[in-house]
Amino acid sequence: MDKLVIEGGKPLSGTIVIQGAKNAALPILAASLLGDGVSKIEHVPHLLDIEVMLNILRELGCRAEHKEDTVVLDTSAVHTSHVPEPLMKLMRSSIFLMGPLLARFGEAQVYLPGGCAIGERKIDLHLQGLKALGAEIEEIGNRIICRADKLIGADIHLGFPSVGATENIMMAAVLADGRTTISNAAREPEITDLQHYLVRMGAKIMGAGTDTITIEGVNRLTPCRYEVIPDRIVTGTVMVAAAATRGSVVLQRTQPAHLTSLIHVMRRSGVQIIVDDDIIRVDGLVRPRAIERIVTAPYPAFPTDLQSQIMVLLALADGVSIMKETIFEGRLKHVDELSRMGADIRVDLNAAFIRGVPRLYGATVEATDLRAGAALVIAGLAAQGRTIVEQVHHIDRGYEKIEVMLAKLGATISRSLPVPNNS
Ligand code: EPZ
Repeated sequence: MDKLVIEGGKPLSGTIVIQGAKNAALPILAASLLGDGVSKIEHVPHLLDIEVMLNILRELGCRAEHKEDTVVLDTSAVHTSHVPEPLMKLMRSSIFLMGPLLARFGEAQVYLPGGCAIGERKIDLHLQGLKALGAEIEEIGNRIICRADKLIGADIHLGFPSVGATENIMMAAVLADGRTTISNAAREPEITDLQHYLVRMGAKIMGAGTDTITIEGVNRLTPCRYEVIPDRIVTGTVMVAAAATRGSVVLQRTQPAHLTSLIHVMRRSGVQIIVDDDIIRVDGLVRPRAIERIVTAPYPAFPTDLQSQIMVLLALADGVSIMKETIFEGRLKHVDELSRMGADIRVDLNAAFIRGVPRLYGATVEATDLRAGAALVIAGLAAQGRTIVEQVHHIDRGYEKIEVMLAKLGATISRSLPVPNNS
């Protein structure tokens, strides 16, 4: 397994262009199945999760090419609606293939995606929504078979504003008979991006970005060309890295409006942030101040996907901060790794009590999930000495060549490939 080797203590500086959003591109690629023909999706980063999604679409019969940051997808030869189990295991979010497959082919067969490092990640809200639209769902072991001769519009209320469930229901309802409303819908920018994409394909949807989405079913959708929004979590990760290393970084091709909660927290901690259209400038001039309380919650509150990263800044802050994780029950595993680097953090259930220290020290640490891995890279950049981050494949799921991106900002970071086994 690859490792990242980081010589810390150098302030980041320079300019970086932000990649397209993984969590917008994934549902948009799945939604392409709703049209018959060739779609062109731009600003799609080269990531493990994107490659897995493209391989699933190829298994279903699509032709898919990913050149530079553009995906060309031909869905005219799709011949099955059965997602292979080995590929389902590689990426949990393939569960939202159910909606488009059901809508277009009347049938979908997927596998329970299973838990992962950050929590159980149930799919009951997905299944309840599809059943409300008239789907018959059978669970045989870890296999899920959905069937529906015709999907009928319905009023659906989500018990929790699940991002994936909102997306799955949207993609199923666009070809249903009649009107569907989704109340207590997720409001993330990626939901709005999916609505824009579906509307361009000919769907009738409104309300994305609010807690109520209304969909009028249509008979067919046509493939289109679309450009995915910038990745707000990669943007936030680089912003925190700039501040944690006391650096000065300019981020281009961003959407600052998607990061208001992070910008608010970082400014309160004393980081200078200047926003101008799609450019964000971050200057970590002084030691950050502690933040008494940050609670992760659904958008537009502080995002769970930036919780582990901001924790590194707070670990170096002057004072005691409290971070509460309310979205995923297993998303504080990076605390043990940060403690090995000298952080002073105590965890009690889903809350972390972070007493800032003047500096962190390099160590060998292990990435346990995508964002925890990114946080350990930030800690390594800020720490005194050498840090080795193991299990880097987690990070590669969401960050395009993270070592190349950070080296462009002056970091001393390299990827060490596994030593071939000579035996
Ligand atoms: C999406 O995951 C993102 N992934 C996650 O990003 C992100 O952390 C999450 O939304 C929350 O913002 C993609 O978009 C591909 P949820 P998703 O359904 O859709 C519970 C990353 O790092 N829940 O909003 O799986 C669930 O257990 C990834 O890029 C149910 O109980 O998130 C969790 O506690 C990690 N039943 C909470 O809701 C359900 O049917 C949030 O899950 C569905 C979810």
